[in-house]
Amino acid sequence: MAGNAVGLGNFLRFPAQAAQHGGGAFLLPYLVSFVLMGIPLLWVEWAIGRHGGQFGHHSAPGMFDRLGRARWLKYVGVFGLFTNLTVAAYYCYIESWTLAYVWHSLVGTFRSVVPTEFFPRYLGMDAGSVTALPGEAVGWFVLTLGLNVWILSRGLAKGIETAAKIGMPLLLLFAGILAVRALTLTTEDPGVVQSPLVGLNFVWQPQLNGLVDPSTWLAAAGQVFFTLSVGMGSIHCYAAYLARDQDIALNASSAGWMNEFVEVILGGSILIPVATAYLGLNAVQAATAGGSGFGLGFLALPALFNQWGWFAPVAGALWFGLLFFAGITSSLAMGQPILAFLQDEFGMRRTRSAAAFGIATLGLGFVCVWLYPGGAFDEFDFWSGTVALVLFALGEAIIFAWIFGMDRGWAEITRGADIHIPAFFRFVIRYVTPLFILTVFVGALVKPAGRWGEAVRSVFAGDGWPFAADSVVGKVLHVGDRGYQWLDASGRFTHGFVQDMTRLLLLLVFLGCAFLVWLAWRRRAKEDR
Ligand code: ALA
Repeated sequence: MAGNAVGLGNFLRFPAQAAQHGGGAFLLPYLVSFVLMGIPLLWVEWAIGRHGGQFGHHSAPGMFDRLGRARWLKYVGVFGLFTNLTVAAYYCYIESWTLAYVWHSLVGTFRSVVPTEFFPRYLGMDAGSVTALPGEAVGWFVLTLGLNVWILSRGLAKGIETAAKIGMPLLLLFAGILAVRALTLTTEDPGVVQSPLVGLNFVWQPQLNGLVDPSTWLAAAGQVFFTLSVGMGSIHCYAAYLARDQDIALNASSAGWMNEFVEVILGGSILIPVATAYLGLNAVQAATAGGSGFGLGFLALPALFNQWGWFAPVAGALWFGLLFFAGITSSLAMGQPILAFLQDEFGMRRTRSAAAFGIATLGLGFVCVWLYPGGAFDEFDFWSGTVALVLFALGEAIIFAWIFGMDRGWAEITRGADIHIPAFFRFVIRYVTPLFILTVFVGALVKPAGRWGEAVRSVFAGDGWPFAADSVVGKVLHVGDRGYQWLDASGRFTHGFVQDMTRLLLLLVFLGCAFLVWLAWRRRAKEDR
C-alpha cells in the first residue's frame, strides 16, 4: 500500500505544487486536507475494499454493488476501472522517461547535450506540430509497459509484492543519499549561489496566508488525492485481499503517514533545495509553473548534477532510479484492479487479463506519446488524474456514510483494529469529508483567473465570472485558447482539436468500462437463473 501511494507525485508534483503556491503557505492547507480528507478517505477505501473482498470482488464495481441494494451503485464503481486504466496509460509514459534518463545519466549524455534541448526532442516537441512519433520515447514506453505487464502477470505475491520489496527500500536509500548530498551543499561548491537551506525553509516554514486563499486549498487538496492514490480504486483493490478481521485502522494510517514522510521530508529535501541553491528562489518558482515538476526534475536537475564531478552520473541514476521505483510500484497498483475485474467478473486467467490490460494501456498510452505536443497527455492528467479522482471520492464518501450507513461503516473500519480511532472521526467521515470534497469539486469547477475576491467584484460590476483556464468550466469552454478552432489557417489540426478528440476518447473509455460492467452483471444474472 505504501508502494501504491509513494510515487512520482511525491518527488515531482509535491515540490512543484508547493513552490507554485508559496512554499510554506501550501503546507497548512495540505496538512489539514490530509487529516480531514486524506486519512478518512483511506479508512473508507480500505473498508470498502476489505468488505467487497469477502464477496469475492477485488475491483470497485462489485464492491460498490455490495454497499447497498440499488442497481446503480455498481456503475459508480466504473470510476475505479476508468481512472486506473487511463491514469496508468500516461503515468507509465512518465515512468518510461525516468528509465530512459537513468540510462542517459549513466552513459553521460547530459555532459554533451543540454537537458533543455534533450527533453523537448525526446518528447517530439521540437517539430512544431501537434503530432509526433518520437522513436526513442516510444521504445522506452513499450519497454516500461512490458515490464509492468510482466510483473502483474506473475501475480500478487510473486509480482507486485516482490517489486515493492525491492523497489521501496532502494527508493528510500537513493532518496536518503540525495537528500544528504543536497543539504550539505555549501556556497564553497562551484555554482552554488546560496545555502540549500533557503529552499528547505521556503517549503517547510508554515505561512498562514495560504489558509485564506481558496486556490491554495484546491491545489493542496488535489495533491492529497494524487499522492495518496485516493479516489482511484487501487486502494480498494489491494484491501480486498485482506482477511475479514485483519486490521485496517492502523495499516491505512501507517501507509498514509509513510507517504507523508516520503513526500514532505524526502520529497521536500531534494528538488527544491538543490535547484534553489544553484538557481535562486525566483527561477525555481518560475520553473514550476504548471505544477508538474517536469521542468525542475527533467531539465534543471540533470544539468545541475553536472557540477558534481565524478558523482554526476551516479546522482542522475539515483534520482531517476528512485523516480522509476516510485513510479512502478504505483502503476502496478493501477493495473491490478483491471486484472482483478477481468478475473472476478469474466473468469479470465491471470496472464490473459494482464495481456488485456497491457493492450488497453498500450493503445491509450500511445495516444499520450503520439499527441503529447498537441496536449493529449495534459488532458489525461486533468480529466483522469485530477477531476475523476475527486468525483469518485465524492461518490464513495456519500455512499459509504449515507447508503451503506455510518453504523455499519464504523463497524467495518474498526473491526480487528490495532489502534483506537477517536470517535471524532466518525463525525468527520459522515459530514466533514463529504462536504470538504464537495467544496473542492465546486471550487475546481469554477476556479477564477486571478483572485476570488476580484472575481466576485467582477460579477457585481456586470462583467461576469472570469473562469480560470484550468477550471473545469474553463477547460470545457477552452478559456485561454484564443481563437479556438479545430483547424488553423493552413488547414492543419490545432491543439483545440487534439484536446477535444482526447476528451471524446476518455468519454468512450468510460462508457466502454460501464458497458463491461453491464455485460458482467447480465452474464451473472443469466448464470443465476
Ligand atoms: N500516488 C501516486 C503518486 O504519488 C499516484 O504518484
